[in-house]
Amino acid sequence: MFSLLLASLASLSSLAGAQHLFDRNLAYSSPFANSPYLSHNTHALHARHVAFAKRQIDGPTPPQLGDTQSSEGFVDEHYPTFYGGDFSASPSIYNGGINFTHSVASGDPFDDSVLLWTRAVPIGSQLPDQSIPICASFKIFDNADLSGRPVDSGDAFTSYDVDWTLKVEANNLRPDSHYWFQFSDCTNSSTVSPVGTTRTISSPNRWFNAYGVAAHNTSADLFLHLGDYIYESLGNGAKIGRQTLGRELATIADYRLRLNQYRTDDDHEVADQAWKAGTADSNDTALGCSFSPSGACFTDRKLAAVRAYHEWMPIRQVDPDDKLRIWRNFQIGKLLDLTMLDTRQYDRDITDYLTECLAVINSIADVTNRSLMGTEQESWFYETLSESKARGATWRVVGQQIVFTMLNESGSLDVDAWDGYRSNRNRVLDHLYTNNIGNTIILSGDSHANWVSDLALLLDPNQTVTYNPLTGEGAIGVEFAGTAVSSTSSFGAGISPANADKISTVLVGANTDLQWSEGSYRGFFTLTLDPHQANATYWAMRNVSASAQLRHVHEGNANLGAFPSATFNVKAGANKLSRPVAGGSVMAGVLKVQGQD
Ligand SMILES: *[C@@H]1O[C@H](CO)[C@@H](O)[C@H](O)[C@H]1NC(C)=O
Ligand SMILES: *[C@@H]1O[C@H](CO)[C@@H](O)[C@H](O)[C@H]1NC(C)=O
Ligand SMILES: *[C@@H]1O[C@H](CO)[C@@H](O)[C@H](O)[C@H]1NC(C)=O
Ligand SMILES: *[C@@H]1O[C@H](CO)[C@@H](O)[C@H](O)[C@H]1NC(C)=O
Ligand SMILES: *[C@@H]1O[C@H](CO)[C@@H](O)[C@H](O)[C@H]1NC(C)=O
Ligand SMILES: *[C@@H]1O[C@H](CO)[C@@H](O)[C@H](O)[C@H]1NC(C)=O
Ligand SMILES: *[C@@H]1O[C@H](CO)[C@@H](O)[C@H](O)[C@H]1NC(C)=O
Ligand SMILES: *[C@@H]1O[C@H](CO)[C@@H](O)[C@H](O)[C@H]1NC(C)=O
Ligand SMILES: *[C@@H]1O[C@H](CO)[C@@H](O)[C@H](O)[C@H]1NC(C)=O
Repeated sequence: MFSLLLASLASLSSLAGAQHLFDRNLAYSSPFANSPYLSHNTHALHARHVAFAKRQIDGPTPPQLGDTQSSEGFVDEHYPTFYGGDFSASPSIYNGGINFTHSVASGDPFDDSVLLWTRAVPIGSQLPDQSIPICASFKIFDNADLSGRPVDSGDAFTSYDVDWTLKVEANNLRPDSHYWFQFSDCTNSSTVSPVGTTRTISSPNRWFNAYGVAAHNTSADLFLHLGDYIYESLGNGAKIGRQTLGRELATIADYRLRLNQYRTDDDHEVADQAWKAGTADSNDTALGCSFSPSGACFTDRKLAAVRAYHEWMPIRQVDPDDKLRIWRNFQIGKLLDLTMLDTRQYDRDITDYLTECLAVINSIADVTNRSLMGTEQESWFYETLSESKARGATWRVVGQQIVFTMLNESGSLDVDAWDGYRSNRNRVLDHLYTNNIGNTIILSGDSHANWVSDLALLLDPNQTVTYNPLTGEGAIGVEFAGTAVSSTSSFGAGISPANADKISTVLVGANTDLQWSEGSYRGFFTLTLDPHQANATYWAMRNVSASAQLRHVHEGNANLGAFPSATFNVKAGANKLSRPVAGGSVMAGVLKVQGQD
């Protein structure tokens, strides 16, 4: 027993250097790394951990050198289960077995690094002691057999503080390469996670040589989710066997639970119709604070959502001092710049969060100083577009949350999209036209329907070019907007293709630059780019329901039936959809100009 006590003492000295094991897990810096009240203080976590280890060796009769007595000096307080009866393996980290409950994920690739994610939950019915961290190792290899020396490896701690999430950065990777990675239990290398595969983007100075169906049936190099990723409301999950909380999300525990749920199988991410200080049903005002049963103010709610988001998503914190910044740019070879914007949570001026303010927002939609992105992000966006052209990247692909093109149906506009921020939209278009920045493709989420448009300046009084919707002449780019993965159509829940097409026919007739509209099918689209052209193929899922027994996609039974509903081509330098649009025919939805070929 004496030797065991020594092992504990010895571990204490090594613990002093162990703080990096907390820091290595990027989930602890969520959401605001340098903000004392809003991030985890890993010094404090480390101190808590060391105090625990001390507790394990401090007793009423401190052990003496040369002591041959058994462990009577030892007071185990109330945490015996997490060591079992055996203290030999590691006295200061949990060794009771771990479960990688949510498999693995990776994201935010650079040309030399990528983020790896998992969740390591202690096995057992009891929650572990809050001061005992769990240690997981990661290894990343350049081959699918995980053989040879790993390209990068390391250990990191996780704990209940971050919902057992673990997010590490794997470094020293080669550009434009595939990698395979796996996590294991530091105390038992036989306990391993599923193997994940990932890839880096190409370095800006080199050429880029190149959910269910997207993963199974496409060979995409990058997957973009444009939102909504999660919903905070009750929704229709119960019907398809996904249990819901029973109320709208408000607290950190609520958001963690929902992200957890989505990861076992989409403005939201925080709450519906979000802008910088409120949402459809919560404000920073007195009313906001009585919003939820937990009494959460909007700000509390937003912080909870952002914190859980960073814990659960394999993305980097772009700027540790910039509270909410997720907008950033990826220079992918000389082929493209992928510019990701936050047109929702960052610094957005007020939207129509209540039906009664729709008229107000409509009346201010053209006000010059209204911004969708906030001044800082907006200027950064224009500079990024200009720099991308200056460095000679062929394409500028802009990933953002809401539909850019005007969708006006007899005077009815969705002012929660760019239609509510029309002068901001004109500034974007002006920047492209004035600086002659071509080959811009805007990708949009949010709308639960499919839309494809030429980008054309329609409202600017200074407009000197005239857009011709038949030829595309006068456009400055294109927009591909995608529908929802599973949630219901904005044209009406369960709407049939024939009924959706009636609405689409009106919309493509009324909106000059809208070239295709489809509102019945759920799905996704692929975008394939080379230096000469870009193709977008829209995929329509035949059935988004799973069979009744299905709980995890990995278990099989997913309905993977899908068909390509429309394919669009854009030629480099053309700045418009190739004519005839979609080759003149589509399998679903309505083209402005049908059947010319
Ligand atoms: C591990 O987690 C999965 C998913 O939550 C669960 O089904 C399984 O029972 C867990 N295994 C153990 C040993 O706790
Ligand atoms: C180590 O992990 C393996 C696989 O999960 C398990 O079968 C084994 O019992 C574990 N060993 C110990 C000592 O917990
Ligand atoms: C938000 O605040 C405004 C102004 O105080 C108030 O009129 C409105 O009812 C509030 N909305 C919600 C959903 O709390
Ligand atoms: C925008 O301009 C209007 C009218 O000049 C002013 O009332 C409002 O405060 C300004 N808003 C912002 C966000 O600067
Ligand atoms: C929307 O369309 C109506 C005609 O249906 C028109 O009067 C109105 O000006 C349009 N709105 C905008 C912002 O262009
Ligand atoms: C139109 O041009 C004038 C003069 O260049 C400029 O001051 C104004 O901001 C422009 N308007 C828009 C909407 O861009
Ligand atoms: C785009 O589609 C055209 C027509 O099918 C094809 O010739 C071309 O290779 C495709 N280009 C890319 C980058 O997918
Ligand atoms: C979709 O799949 C579910 C579950 O397998 C099935 O009950 C339903 O009939 C299917 N719907 C259609 C339109 O095929
Ligand atoms: C997608 O791949 C799955 C699994 O390989 C297959 O069952 C399914 O038929 C494929 N779907 C399409 C649209 O090719």
